[in-house]
Amino acid sequence: MPRPATIHVCSACGHAEPRWAGRCPDCGEWNTLVEERRPSNARAGSPGTGLRAGAGAVTPIELGQVRAAEHERLSTGIGELDGVLGGGLVPGSLVLIGGAPGIGKSTLTTMALASLVAAGHRVLYVSAEESAAQIRLRAQRLTGGEALRIPVIAETSLAAVLATIERQRPEVCVVDSVQTLHCEELASAAGSVAQVREVAGAILRVAKAHGTAVLLVGHVTKDGALAGPRVLEHLVDCVLQFEGERERTYRTVRAVKNRFGSTSEAGVFEMRDHGLVEVLDASARFVSEATQAPGSVVLCAMEGSRPLLVEVQALVSPSELVPPRRLAAGIDRNRLALVLAVLGRHGGIGLGSSDVFVNVVGGVRVDEPGADLAVALAVASAARGVAPASVPGRPLACFGELGLTGELRSVAHPERRVAEAAKFGLVPVASPDTHPSLRSAVAGLLGRRSAALEPAA
Ligand code: TYD
Ligand code: MG
Repeated sequence: MPRPATIHVCSACGHAEPRWAGRCPDCGEWNTLVEERRPSNARAGSPGTGLRAGAGAVTPIELGQVRAAEHERLSTGIGELDGVLGGGLVPGSLVLIGGAPGIGKSTLTTMALASLVAAGHRVLYVSAEESAAQIRLRAQRLTGGEALRIPVIAETSLAAVLATIERQRPEVCVVDSVQTLHCEELASAAGSVAQVREVAGAILRVAKAHGTAVLLVGHVTKDGALAGPRVLEHLVDCVLQFEGERERTYRTVRAVKNRFGSTSEAGVFEMRDHGLVEVLDASARFVSEATQAPGSVVLCAMEGSRPLLVEVQALVSPSELVPPRRLAAGIDRNRLALVLAVLGRHGGIGLGSSDVFVNVVGGVRVDEPGADLAVALAVASAARGVAPASVPGRPLACFGELGLTGELRSVAHPERRVAEAAKFGLVPVASPDTHPSLRSAVAGLLGRRSAALEPAA
């Protein structure tokens, strides 16, 4: 019987099995066996020393002597995307764009290729998900006719895609998506860990060999899991995360990893009927929409190195449920739990028998401790039914981190946050500089009326 072309290797202990098993016979872990290509005639090492026969020594070079070509970057024509990439695409780099289905990954990559084509670059769009006709329909919707000049192939076979890249030698290639390409030599289904790793590895090799910049699209489920993008993060040069909610118009792209730039940049987009549009004045929009009602405050957040004003809203209502509901959109649930605990213990507002809903308006996600004060004030203001004190006719702007003992802690870039708020006349800004503790912020901004819902713990 011929030897199978693949083996199954335990990702916990490295034990290899000829066949798949639910449990590793060596270390006893469950669900850790992953299919891999059998290594081609592995050379026997000389026992004891770990030396490989025939492997010559390599001379190390001082870093200062290494010749580093200055990377010439390719502009994608989308300012926000170039910014996140650190100034454009680096030739020969592999960029993974992860995001939930329907968020706009195909739209963004098509738009990038369209402007690269218009600038005279050789590009290729590999679609393993949609037919060429479907891609054409999308391209037609995008503004400008350039998108129709993108060469596409609709192909799911990895070998065919590699051969096409070899032949066409594009400067920029989009592979949509890494989970739907299929390597025939592995028995597992497309999208499995083994397949995704093999596909990305093979594409990486051709991309580096020919200096092709590859944008690899990968799907992420709501909880960020699923075989795929996660197992590739160490392999690629740059990981971009496309976030936002499908039902909302605003989306952000941020770099989680970037070998050629910082990871602090983020781009904001809006999905319109003719594609994604960069949002350059996001703060202006969110501020003008802020309600100024009880339960609403404006947070001076940082999107990367850029300040962004967003409205945080809260609703507090009596609950019959034990435990009561806590719903958070746009902020981390655990962070909300922490803020509520500090609010109860140190802010004099206990919400043990109330449902609490918090929402960052516009589908924006803020994952920074600087949002704590805004969440606390929005909830406190909703609980008391009092709009936060501010300049008449304008919402209250604030930022700051909550410490577990009820103190307000400073966060990064306070001057930039205040400057952004000042642009819209939202001064003074409530911050760790104006209020030392949550208790003083609540007392100063929401008056001293006692909580209507429940006495403090
Ligand atoms: P798509 O880019 O296909 O998402 P992904 O590749 O991440 O799965 O498109 C996302 C959604 O955007 C889709 O539901 C349709 C919508 N859309 C627009 O609203 N306007 C447009 O111009 C385009 C092309 C898509
Ligand atoms: Mg798609």
